[in-house]
Amino acid sequence: RARVAVLLSGTGSLCAALLEATDDPAFPAEVVVVGSDRAAHGLEHARRRGIPTFTCGLGEHADRPAWDRALAAELAGHAPDLVVSAGFMKLVGPAVLDAFGGRLINTHPALLPAFPGAHAVRDALAAGVAVTGATVHLVDAGLDTGPVLAQREVAVHPDDDEAELHERIKEAERELLVDTVAALVTAGRTSEQRTRKSDR
Ligand code: GAR
Repeated sequence: RARVAVLLSGTGSLCAALLEATDDPAFPAEVVVVGSDRAAHGLEHARRRGIPTFTCGLGEHADRPAWDRALAAELAGHAPDLVVSAGFMKLVGPAVLDAFGGRLINTHPALLPAFPGAHAVRDALAAGVAVTGATVHLVDAGLDTGPVLAQREVAVHPDDDEAELHERIKEAERELLVDTVAALVTAGRTSEQRTRKSDR
């Protein structure tokens, strides 16, 4: 199974959904480490399963580049095939991007390129859109700007507040993330097999 590292900053319900998916031995990936930039509640989902966790706080490092290098090193220590930012509320820097670019994905609670940033659900409500949703995209150096891999729409209800709408988005987002991780690692494995065959 492909090795997946998860990064989170909050409650980690997306991470929990991914962990539950991996309970099926037919699921093509396993979570090998869960990391955070803080003592996040979401790390508990991994601890309960005996999966290694780490915290790499910005404040514990001299500056942002040092933090970014430490985060890259923590991740590299677990040799992940894929890194999933699932509610990780920090922008990664060049060290992480150099090591994991192209196999680092993020999940975002809006239909990117609409409503990037840390308040996507609030911003969508304020804009009065009838439909928002969730996006899984490749991470690049920008804020929620990398190529979109998959999206799912969610209708906004007239009486929605931010919490209600976010919870409905997260229901869609959990499925989208699990499906996208499975599709990505399956495609990756197929291309590796092809490469190996043509090497012969
Ligand atoms: C998710 O909706 C995720 O897309 C969002 O935080 C939530 C985490 O939920 N991330 C961002 O807004 C990043 N800009 P969780 O802690 O329950 O998994």
